[in-house]
Amino acid sequence: MALIDNYFQKGKIMGKAKVINGKAYAERLRSRIAEAVTHLKVTHNITPGLAVVLVGDDPASQVYVRNKEKQTAEAGMASFENKLSADIKENELLALIANLNGDTAVHGILVQLPLPDHIDSGKIINAINPDKDVDGFHAINVGRLTTGNKGMVPCTPLGCLMLLKDQFCDLQGKHAVIVGRSNIVGKPMAALLLQESCTVTIAHSRTKKLREICQSADILVAAAGRPQMIGSDWIKPGATIIDVGINRVPKEEGPGKFRLVGDVDFSAAAEVAAAITPVPGGVGPMTIACLLKNTVTSTCRIHGVEEPIIAS
Ligand code: GUN
Repeated sequence: MALIDNYFQKGKIMGKAKVINGKAYAERLRSRIAEAVTHLKVTHNITPGLAVVLVGDDPASQVYVRNKEKQTAEAGMASFENKLSADIKENELLALIANLNGDTAVHGILVQLPLPDHIDSGKIINAINPDKDVDGFHAINVGRLTTGNKGMVPCTPLGCLMLLKDQFCDLQGKHAVIVGRSNIVGKPMAALLLQESCTVTIAHSRTKKLREICQSADILVAAAGRPQMIGSDWIKPGATIIDVGINRVPKEEGPGKFRLVGDVDFSAAAEVAAAITPVPGGVGPMTIACLLKNTVTSTCRIHGVEEPIIAS
């Protein structure tokens, strides 16, 4: 974190690039969300409620879930924790989802992924009431997004789009290259950028001439999960880089010590790009802020209350 604070103190410039401060953007967004929550409580006597389901004891998932719960409470929402043993049976998990679907205090349901192998993730996700699916992973919400209808938009791509819209008045006609084709990031990111009239290329580990394709991007979204795979010679001068990767790599100074890096070689890329998100402090904080935003959205829709416009 000290490293990134250092970049910001230098006037948001690293090499040639502006460093996109996702941490600060997310903080502003969370305070707008807290205002919307207060309004819902005072004017409508409604407290948005988010239920988080965590199965097993994967350390990374535990950290994410702890942060989610903390920030949900800080925004003034009700947070319902469901921590379950790794050997829970699929039908027991389905029964819990059915309970949460029927619970009027719960407006958003998030099942932390990945789930243990013996559980069919698709079955669990599609058992969530689509109107409470604040992750936007339910097949109905995927369909709504790709057809341009009102649904729930997955949090990480939504956060990336907010950062991009903050950079550009207009995204029309820009060539956006997304490296990674996951259901959580790559595919919904492509749908969102297509809606903004970008020309979208989805690239992945089997793409031929991957580096050349990335070199043609005005906007490069890196979501491959490979530490620092994208170097300066992958980047078109003046491009905007959104790094979704969060990879733990060993520190040079000693065994057992780790640091977080993205999928982009940050300092090399910053010599070529016009703007770049750091890791940490870029996309990561936007994901949870967008989860809270989606929970306010689902609460308003469930209660038939006008949705506040929440922007940073
Ligand atoms: N695991 C990694 N990212 C996510 C996410 O955005 N939502 C859920 N539910 N699980 C995840």
